[in-house]
Amino acid sequence: MYNILLQSHSGIRYLVILLLFFSLIWSFVAWLRNAKFSRFDNILNLTTTISFHLQLILGLILYFTSPLVLFKSETMNNEILSYWTIWHAFMMIISIALVTIARISVKKLQDDMRKHQSIVIYYLLVIVIVFSALLMSGRGIM
Ligand code: HEM
Repeated sequence: MYNILLQSHSGIRYLVILLLFFSLIWSFVAWLRNAKFSRFDNILNLTTTISFHLQLILGLILYFTSPLVLFKSETMNNEILSYWTIWHAFMMIISIALVTIARISVKKLQDDMRKHQSIVIYYLLVIVIVFSALLMSGRGIM
């Protein structure tokens, strides 16, 4: 159970990163071109948000099954335990929250330019947070 969850969570990371970069570049080009926010843009944004929410669900289940998530006094003195118990979950939840805020703003904003702009700004922040968290894990980004 733990291994299947870890492998799925680890594998979906590639999808999440791919969608994140593709969406960012796509929205940036659309913003520069003053393009309309199309049906495709909406589906791309929704798919990216769903992929992050899927990571959240798997991550939460993993959180309660992983041997590296430990609520003991020695956790804070151990780099690996403190990373998986606190920092990974904390940073990834922030990134998922930002992706969700970007989705909400896309739905609320009326102006198409502002929608593209909002995706670019939020996703840039998300990339910085996700990559920092993955670098901190010591298991590499890819
Ligand atoms: C964008 C969201 C996320 C990404 C890209 C991500 C990525 C990863 C990666 C790459 C691993 C290592 C897998 C491996 O070594 O095979 C991992 C493990 C893990 N993640 Fe996430 N994660 C995300 C969100 C979350 C969230 C929100 C939580 C908890 C609430 C979480 C909890 C965990 C746990 C507990 C482990 C297992 C550590 C272990 O037992 O080895 N993740 N994650």
